[in-house]
Amino acid sequence: MTEPTTSAAASVAELTLEEKASLTSGASFWYTKPIDRVGVPAIMVTDGPHGLRKQREGGDHLGLGDSVPATCFPPAVGLGSSWDVDLVHRVGEALGIEASLENVAVLLGPGINIKRSPLCGRNFEYLSEDPIVSGVLGTAMVEGVQSKGVGTSLKHFAANNQEHDRMRASSDVDPRPLREIYLRGFQRVVEDAQPWTVMCSYNRINGVYASEDPWLLTQVLRDEWGFEGLVISDWGAVSERVPGLAAGMDLEMPSSNGVTDAQIVAAVQDGSLDEQVLDVAAGRVLDLVRKATEGAGAVHGPLDVDAHHALAREAAGRSIVLLKNEAPNEARVQGEAQAPILPLAKDARLAVIGEFAEQPRYQGAGSSLIRPTRLDNALDEIRALATGEVAYARGFSNALEVSAEETAALRDEAAAAASVADVAVVFLGLPARLESEGYDRDDIDLPAAQLALLDAVVAANPYTVVVLSNGGVVALPFADRVPAIVEAWLLGQAGGGAIADVLFGDVNPSAKLTETIPLRLEDTPAYLDFPGEFSHVRYGEGLFVGYRWYDARRIEVAFPFGHGLSYTTFAYGDASAAVNAGGDVEVTVAVTNTGDRAGREVVQVYTSLPGGTVQRPVRELKAFASVALEPGETREVVLTVRRGDLAHWDIRVDRWLVEGGSYVVDVAASSRDIRSSVQVEIEGDEFTLPLSRSSSIAEVMAHPVVGGMVQAAIAQMMGGMDGVASVMPEGVEVTKMLEAFPIGRAGMFAAADSGGSINPEMIDGLIAMGNAGGAPQQ
Ligand code: BGC
Repeated sequence: MTEPTTSAAASVAELTLEEKASLTSGASFWYTKPIDRVGVPAIMVTDGPHGLRKQREGGDHLGLGDSVPATCFPPAVGLGSSWDVDLVHRVGEALGIEASLENVAVLLGPGINIKRSPLCGRNFEYLSEDPIVSGVLGTAMVEGVQSKGVGTSLKHFAANNQEHDRMRASSDVDPRPLREIYLRGFQRVVEDAQPWTVMCSYNRINGVYASEDPWLLTQVLRDEWGFEGLVISDWGAVSERVPGLAAGMDLEMPSSNGVTDAQIVAAVQDGSLDEQVLDVAAGRVLDLVRKATEGAGAVHGPLDVDAHHALAREAAGRSIVLLKNEAPNEARVQGEAQAPILPLAKDARLAVIGEFAEQPRYQGAGSSLIRPTRLDNALDEIRALATGEVAYARGFSNALEVSAEETAALRDEAAAAASVADVAVVFLGLPARLESEGYDRDDIDLPAAQLALLDAVVAANPYTVVVLSNGGVVALPFADRVPAIVEAWLLGQAGGGAIADVLFGDVNPSAKLTETIPLRLEDTPAYLDFPGEFSHVRYGEGLFVGYRWYDARRIEVAFPFGHGLSYTTFAYGDASAAVNAGGDVEVTVAVTNTGDRAGREVVQVYTSLPGGTVQRPVRELKAFASVALEPGETREVVLTVRRGDLAHWDIRVDRWLVEGGSYVVDVAASSRDIRSSVQVEIEGDEFTLPLSRSSSIAEVMAHPVVGGMVQAAIAQMMGGMDGVASVMPEGVEVTKMLEAFPIGRAGMFAAADSGGSINPEMIDGLIAMGNAGGAPQQ
């Protein structure tokens, strides 16, 4: 354990044991403890990922109490769909400014957990089912916030992928998916952006609480990734404080009312806790306080509410995914205009239908709940942009108790409005109560009354556009029956305006799915292992999370990962790929806007290694870029695949390993829309598998030092076994059978067939020779 090297560390020496312990837990819900005697101030940390939730007085971590007004930017489900590093950075800067103006030292976000199941109640707070998307965009967010002298808290570390039983459940994950899927994004953000803090999650991982796991908090986070900041607990995540401190859990939040501080003092006094451990944790708190003090005042007020609202609208517009945009089926049959239904003409007669148009769902419930500075709704914003008549019908009620009569009346009224309109725009979505921190959904269905409403509207007018408001994906059983679907997620306070912008084409949609929309819940990867039982959830799908699952199993989906349409079209040239001096792969492709309006394309790069030695998904995302193109413009896009991202976690030796070979590089508009493929030769990492008595004969035969020797011996032995081979059915591969044998048991044959000429000492000698290295033997 090393002493922090900052100036604040010096003052650890000035503190009493009790003072040091006092620093390692909160003073209250949102503040650290001051030490007036030596001039250490208290600092404030507060939620959350897409806006500031600074409570005026008192506190709770579930969003129950009131907070100061702040700009509600699109939650991660929306913002992530932009795939746009610059945009996310700008939103991060704005969040940093708002936090700084409110004297908040650390903003508790971003949340970058993987969306393992669409049922997770908190998916709206997370970015993707893919670790590269989560890692790259999480980095942009951290850098944006921290550029304003405000810290971040990368959360929830780690494998916290459900809300059910979240404070006890053990996520039982094998090493490869843990490293390659669930930790990879965290690693990226830590290594690239050094968040001031990392928040450990509530759950256990393979039986150990994240808040007291030395492997997670020290070995992986600090020793392997080089994390320099402070580990903070999720609110109430501490189970056993003293082992937690020793594991690397520096700051417990919220306050323990001094109880756990006293435990720490007692443990030092009775010798069960090394005081050095406490010094390091207290030093990290002082270091955080120092950063916060130095960062404070970097921003000067007052808050430009209008500018931040405008940014929220821009970000929301960039978060909207145009899933489908065609002419109605009827139009095709009758030979009417074949043009896609969107964008709408401003003078069209519209029927806007659905309660969400008037009462937007723009964020999810729980600790991330923002009190917005203002709130747009789509109905008003559509009316503001339209020059034609805009009728409105509520369509359905989101109230808990709705009578059958009321439901039918609302539906009939909506169908009547649709029948006299040029186009019906139907707002469907999940009622707020279905998506929240603290619990998961039971299904992925939209409420039945909404589906029935849509049927009635489509029957009245096939020119129907569906706009969805939801934080987690929903099944879309109507996808073939409506000409256009706009996935508007939860878009923050300016989402209403952004929806109007996209519907009328003032904003050309450019977002793409960072998660697959499945056809059925039963198709989803974690279906049989979610949410687990008796506080254990087995990650049985392993590496095959999200699109990795659907592709490997060739499962049809409603809309694939990476999909999203535009009002223009893009053509891709032939890609090329080359390894650069740093060992990374540079992929170059020309992309052209072939339509007649400006737009952005999210270019995606996937790789695979056919015939590799470990199981791999069909293809995995490794790089992406959001590219703005004027009509007719062509741009050479260069995307970098980091060499490290080609590595798998090799469980034989517990380390990352880049396997050599001919990698396929797919340049794509979505995970199922590959536009150009090339191959690139990658030199593998230097690696020799250590030998042991358990090494298989095949492994020993492949060994660079002793392999040749063993191959020769086997060939000789096979030559002497003609009699055995002859009684075998033709074609049976005796060598293959033999190759699977552990070398330690080879003596078995030798004893019977070669007069005991292979003995255990010889085998151990061979193993030692191999492990010692040296010149290859022939
Ligand atoms: C949540 C965290 C949040 C904290 C403080 C917890 O319940 O899991 O995401 O930052 O509360 O509100």
